[in-house]
Amino acid sequence: MGKSQSVNSALLQGFCTFEKFCEIAGSASRNAPDKVHFVTTRSCYVRGVIDLHFISASVTSSCLRDTMSLLRFLLLSFAGASTALIISPHVRAHVHRRSAGRAPAPAAVASMAKPTAVVDTAAVEGLRFMTEEQARAVAATHGTPAFVYSEAYLKQQARKALAFPNAYGLTVRFAMKACPNAAVLQTFMRLGLHIDASSGFEVRRAIAAGFAPDQISLSGQEVPADLGELLALGIRFNACSLRQLRRYGELRKGARGVQLGIRFNPGLGSGGTGKTNVGGPSSSFGIWHEQLPEVQRLLKEFDLEPARVHTHIGSGSDPAVWQRVAGLSLALCEKLPTVTALNLGGGYKVGRMLADKSTDLAVVGVPVKAAFEDFAARTGRKLALEVEPGTFLVANAGALVTSVHDVVTTGEAGQTFIKLNAGMTELLRPSLYGAQHPAILVPAAPEAKTSASIFESDAKRYVIVGHCCESGDLVTPAPDEPETLLARNLDKGVAVDDLLVIEGAGAYCSGMATKHYNSFPECPEVLLDEAGNLHLIRKKQAVQEIWANEVPYTPKS
Ligand SMILES: Cc1ncc(COP(=O)(O)O)c(C=O)c1O
Repeated sequence: MGKSQSVNSALLQGFCTFEKFCEIAGSASRNAPDKVHFVTTRSCYVRGVIDLHFISASVTSSCLRDTMSLLRFLLLSFAGASTALIISPHVRAHVHRRSAGRAPAPAAVASMAKPTAVVDTAAVEGLRFMTEEQARAVAATHGTPAFVYSEAYLKQQARKALAFPNAYGLTVRFAMKACPNAAVLQTFMRLGLHIDASSGFEVRRAIAAGFAPDQISLSGQEVPADLGELLALGIRFNACSLRQLRRYGELRKGARGVQLGIRFNPGLGSGGTGKTNVGGPSSSFGIWHEQLPEVQRLLKEFDLEPARVHTHIGSGSDPAVWQRVAGLSLALCEKLPTVTALNLGGGYKVGRMLADKSTDLAVVGVPVKAAFEDFAARTGRKLALEVEPGTFLVANAGALVTSVHDVVTTGEAGQTFIKLNAGMTELLRPSLYGAQHPAILVPAAPEAKTSASIFESDAKRYVIVGHCCESGDLVTPAPDEPETLLARNLDKGVAVDDLLVIEGAGAYCSGMATKHYNSFPECPEVLLDEAGNLHLIRKKQAVQEIWANEVPYTPKS
């Protein structure tokens, strides 16, 4: 099925058809013909976005209702303002609005409406925590590609998370899947963070890094084979399905204390992309909220008293949906009288590109704190709060230093490609989600380039690709469209051996790559300490280690 077909069918399942939506948009246009500009196009991005208020929403079958409501609201309520609306019939809708009182020049509107295949980020993006000299020092000392993490940035984010508004106590758990290197785990451990683990193996890794078992909470899709042993060590366990709850009951019949939590799917989800939305009817994560009676029956059967309710609805969640889910989760706590803590998961949005918005924990937490207080006033139960961010703590604290390995062109009407010496083997998010990461050019030498190498390119617009033999190994896809090429304006020509630093690479990059594809070894990881010194925290893998576990077999003939 083609992409547009699949989206059309998503629209038909939702609260209105695409045609109906066009009708709503059209009538807003007619009411204020010179104020609202409506255009449908496949991939349409605005250059020079600095003074535009930018709202982007994913149109998937699970969040269509919210998106359509959002668009309807914007179209009708902004009819008095100067508005340019660009709809992608595939998967996204973008609303671009000039700030109040500054009508866009007609030429600017016209250029917004024109589909372009370039996103101009060179003017606004820069290195986040390294200097150019430090990036070159990483390359000189550890080679490229190499991940670099900023100790200062990690600590800054941890302190922000520890200040999360709460009424009756807070535990912050690092969702270690985001960046599981021991040096990162230990940095957070020293500041008092605990751990959210997603598998028995992550539990073992956190213990090896120095965490006490009772600081580790396991919420996984798969029950570890050694669950009994891990429970005996004292880890906390969130049952994420009825089968998991039964398994816990078999192992810990009649147990009391704080070990057991129940992860619910509260019926609502929200993620930065469809693939990171883990709540609602399309998601397999957690026990469906309407199955509460079955949970209660199992608790009775195994004589168990859960201490926690847990919900996590996605990564890059809409703060408003997250706040609603906090209310739904409190309602579940009310039905489980032994519960003393509510874990609201992670998912706080972090802008990796400077134009993207980040969630301010100090703001989103305030109404949730008030809801805990209301709950206490109503029930007499003062629930502690747990949160377990991953992205928020590490996304912008990490960068991938790569080298430009080659520059190729497909002619006048085609593209100029930069080939990196890294790709989906280190950074899968662009290929998987159409995720956007800043790409910052750092010339190989500080002085101006003098050579006229045949590999040097004067082009300024580049599609950046990875080193795997896979056309999907794309570093610069269009947002949410992993298969659509989107050139970046790097503002200056690129030469082989220049460095390209991929920012926003701290979360779900090193830990989530297609490790060993094309037999590329795992690259090193480096920590930039607060004094500006570089420390190797993971060695580059020796190529022989890739096949070290293979067992020889000699074919008979
Ligand atoms: C159960 C759970 N908690 C927390 C997180 C962290 O999410 P994020 O990195 O978006 O904060 C995840 C991520 O998938 C998760 O599955």
